[in-house]
Parts: sequence; C-alpha cells; structure tokens
Amino acid sequence: MENNKTRREFLQKAGSTALFAALGISFLSSCGSSIDDDATMPGGMPNNTTGIRVEGNITNLDLTQANLSNLKNQGGWLLIRQSQLLVVNVDGQTIRAFTSVCTHSGCDNAWAYSNSQFICNCHGSVFSNGGQRLSGPANRDLQEFSVQRNGDNVVITK
Ligand code: FES
Repeated sequence: MENNKTRREFLQKAGSTALFAALGISFLSSCGSSIDDDATMPGGMPNNTTGIRVEGNITNLDLTQANLSNLKNQGGWLLIRQSQLLVVNVDGQTIRAFTSVCTHSGCDNAWAYSNSQFICNCHGSVFSNGGQRLSGPANRDLQEFSVQRNGDNVVITK
C-alpha cells in the first residue's frame, strides 16, 4: 500500500515536471517574438488590427493606437501580418520597414528582435535593423520599403 502511494506521488511529480517542460519548449518555439532577455525589445504582432489600414501596396499605421504605440520608441518593432512587414524604430525617430518574408525559405511569422537585430526563428537567420543579412542560412538581405512618417502617421509603400 505504501509503495503504491509513493509510486503514485512520484508519477504525479514527474508528470508535472514533464508538462511544464513541454509547455516551456512549446512556448519558446511557437512564440518567436517573446524570447526573454534583457536586450529584447517590446514588439511582435499587434494585439489587434486597430490603426492598421492596408490598401493595395500601401500600409498606414496610426501610432496613436495603443497596439502600435511601441513604434514610437527606439527598438520598438512590429510584425504586420496583413502586409507581411517588419517595422522597427531604429533610433527613436526613424522608422524602417522590411519584408517579413525571410529570404531563406519564406517564413514570415517567427521573428524576434534583439540587440538591434531581427532573428528568423524558423532556422536562425539573423538580419540587422537595416535588413542586411548577418548570418545564414539566408543568403540575401531583407527587402526594404519606403517609409514616410508624419508624427504618429506612418505610411509604408511596398
Ligand atoms: S526561413 Fe528564415 S531562417 Fe529559414
């Protein structure tokens, strides 16, 4: 009887540990914009589409909207899925925009931004915040698009 109780307790504890480990691994691998380190800047996909307007090759961003406001700050960045864009504030004022389609094999949704670099978590390619390829497996830079900023209004033209 005592052996059964001890065995059951062990299995419950082992199960909990395995569950947490599995959740941890799942979280890290599926949430590319949430790598935890001190240099990782806030960003990722906006919580909703408020303030994002896409018309043809033009994407308008209204930075007065809370879900886009991190683009006002140096290092703030967003992945705009609707128009496959990576958008980043590089110096507190200048906003740059790049394709979110990785030049390695086309992943467009597994980006992180840390130490002024974009990382494609599909296979680990790294790009500068100017779109330059820094390390592979990608072998080409990210295409950059024209950005016009007028205060809190940002217009990106592909
Ligand atoms: S698709 Fe980005 S590194 Fe492979």
